[in-house]
Amino acid sequence: MRKKVTVVGAGNVGATTAMRIIEKELADVIMIDVLEGVPAGKALDLCEAAPVEGHDCKITGHTATYGEAKDSDIVIMTAGIPRKPGMSRDDLLSINMGIVSSSSKKIASVAPNAILIIVSNPLDAMCHAAFDASGFPKNRVIGMAGILDSARLRAFIAMELNVSVENIHALVLGGHGDTMVPLPRYSTVSGIPITELMPPDRVESLIERTRTGGAEIVGLLKTGSAYYAPASAVVEMAEAILKDKKKILPCSAYLEGEYGINHLFMGVPVKLGANGIEEIVRIRLTDEEMKALHHSAAAVRSVVDDMKRVV
Ligand code: LAC
Repeated sequence: MRKKVTVVGAGNVGATTAMRIIEKELADVIMIDVLEGVPAGKALDLCEAAPVEGHDCKITGHTATYGEAKDSDIVIMTAGIPRKPGMSRDDLLSINMGIVSSSSKKIASVAPNAILIIVSNPLDAMCHAAFDASGFPKNRVIGMAGILDSARLRAFIAMELNVSVENIHALVLGGHGDTMVPLPRYSTVSGIPITELMPPDRVESLIERTRTGGAEIVGLLKTGSAYYAPASAVVEMAEAILKDKKKILPCSAYLEGEYGINHLFMGVPVKLGANGIEEIVRIRLTDEEMKALHHSAAAVRSVVDDMKRVV
């Protein structure tokens, strides 16, 4: 039987995610949005592309009818408002918290066994909102951020060294915000750490560009935030789960003591398979890296605390 993925939010991130999922023939897709006509229109447009693209996955779009998400294997939460120039991800907190909480509750009632992937911002806080509202176990609530932030660093390394992106791995941990923790020691070109291939000031400049990578795109687009790379990142997670690939990827996960951090969603390396997060991978960090991770945890915790005050 075909797998079923529901995408909540038919905006740019949701629709691009849906498109990549069906074009890779990973699953049939349901798109849900509060807007009248938009999810159905985008789904129909994608159905009409299928004969040319050459795939047989089904996609339908629905306005606020959560029953359609029944028994989904994965639900991808992209609902919420995006950033405008000058806004931080945290500025979206109160509006998106309401949207993500109510939507996660509805999802939990129709798709109680689904794996929930959160994309809405501010990302790590929205994972908490979804975790609390859905009542799902921690292995089935996962945030998309680390793959995107790492992909940005990978792209910048490829541009800097004029080498294939396929040669490059990078690792960015921590919260999805300005305090994120790119790890140059674990960022490599064919296994060679980038610290061996470029001077420290260039490494630092790529790291800085990565930290502000989301804002760079918001500043250019002016009317919203990035969506091609975010969609690619979330589809890599969905594929790892649907195919039980056991991929090690940086994702926002609920920590209970790992890395000395408790009761907080934050970006760490995890193993993704059919059961969602199957393991939180602990890597050795230097004192300085650990300090940066804890600094990032404190920033995430203050947003989560703000959110709890709003409730
Ligand atoms: C970004 C937004 C989607 O990083 O958080 O582009």
